[in-house]
Amino acid sequence: MQVIKYVFQPHGDDRGQLVSLEEFKDIPFRIKRVYYMYDTGSGVVRGHHAHKSLQQILICIHGSCKVMLDNGKEKKTVPLEKPYEGVYVSNVMWREMYDFSDDAVLMVLASELYNEEDYIRDYDEFLKFVNNCSDNEIEQV
Ligand code: TYD
Repeated sequence: MQVIKYVFQPHGDDRGQLVSLEEFKDIPFRIKRVYYMYDTGSGVVRGHHAHKSLQQILICIHGSCKVMLDNGKEKKTVPLEKPYEGVYVSNVMWREMYDFSDDAVLMVLASELYNEEDYIRDYDEFLKFVNNCSDNEIEQV
């Protein structure tokens, strides 16, 4: 399983840093939704679900956290520690986010609007979904 990590270009000068993210250029999909989480206490695990169609890029724009990705066959853990790096999460990928630093702000860029019907929140159901899914139903970037 290949983890796709993005390193974005900061435009820095003596006033500070700026990162700009454009759909189809820096981000491999149309960005239909942005959300972010903060005040995630230590010991908290978020996510714990997969999506049937949604693609996402996760960026810890402040502080740090870890992301565990699981395609139903293999698991990989990705640390997010810089505001200029992100990890791509395809559809049909179980994810858990944890080890949030006190100051963590985790921003998510998503390819679709919020739709509860796209969620798979039960791990056994996720494994069944993976087994019934052909490779071409999983987005590739
Ligand atoms: P939840 O899916 O539990 O978050 P996480 O993936 O971090 O575990 O979402 C928390 C709440 O926020 C839940 O009531 C649904 C709501 N929500 C929205 O209204 N819009 C959104 O885009 C998202 C991601 C969640």
